Amino acid sequence: MKQENCIIRSEEKKDHRAVENLIRESFWNVYRPGCSEHYVIHVLRDDPAFVKELDFVMEKDGELIGQNMFMRTVIDADDGRTIPVLTMGPICITPDLKRQGYGKRLLDASLQKAAQLGFGAVLFEGNIAFYGKSGFDYAAKFGIRYHDLPEDADASFFLCKELIPGYLDGVSGVYQTPQGYYVDDADVEAFDRQFPYKEKRKLPGQIFE
Ligand SMILES: CC(C)(COP(=O)(O)OP(=O)(O)OC[C@H]1O[C@@H](n2cnc3c(N)ncnc32)[C@H](O)[C@@H]1OP(=O)(O)O)[C@@H](O)C(=O)NCCC(=O)NCCS
Repeated sequence: MKQENCIIRSEEKKDHRAVENLIRESFWNVYRPGCSEHYVIHVLRDDPAFVKELDFVMEKDGELIGQNMFMRTVIDADDGRTIPVLTMGPICITPDLKRQGYGKRLLDASLQKAAQLGFGAVLFEGNIAFYGKSGFDYAAKFGIRYHDLPEDADASFFLCKELIPGYLDGVSGVYQTPQGYYVDDADVEAFDRQFPYKEKRKLPGQIFE
């Protein structure tokens, strides 16, 4: 996966803290005052559902500029089957290099690898404006519902892409977010104190308090 001076490679143990710092810089004050995603990856790397073969970093001129990771999860199908799928994220690109195509390049390369490994579909919460360019569509169009969401609620944040065409044909059901993503605020606070101080700010567009 080499393009220009930019490479995508597997994350290694020596990268862990730098990757967490990159995630913290990229997500800080975007969805809430501060962020929790740097702690989320810290916890998920030890989760049995974590897919080590799909844990990527992007480097440009030897500098870490992006990361992406995947977890195994399931759709509880209405007919009683349990359908294995992937979920994804956190994914990020360093703030200085946003909107220059690096995120899409990292996303597409990661999805290609996931398809090569034989995974059937990827579902997660995201913005269709970005992920739609890489073939994601609303999960509702595939007959997949988001857990704990009332039927009349807006589910346009919930996206899906088949990696094996037709993988979700004949499937309707409820997607489950892996439990590992639910972290405790107090644990996030304690972890965050290991990093340089950053000011938490309430900004327009944030979706969590
Ligand atoms: C989301 C993120 C990974 C996208 O990476 P990126 O390198 O900035 O995105 P790209 O330049 O590859 O974007 C490709 C296209 O997707 C669309 N897009 C990207 N980010 C978008 C955004 N925030 N809102 C609307 N459209 C967006 C644009 O159409 C863009 O093309 P354009 O710039 O020519 O219009 C990156 O911005 C980031 O790290 N954000 C903060 C963390 C985050 O939100 N992660 C995702 C959580 S679901």
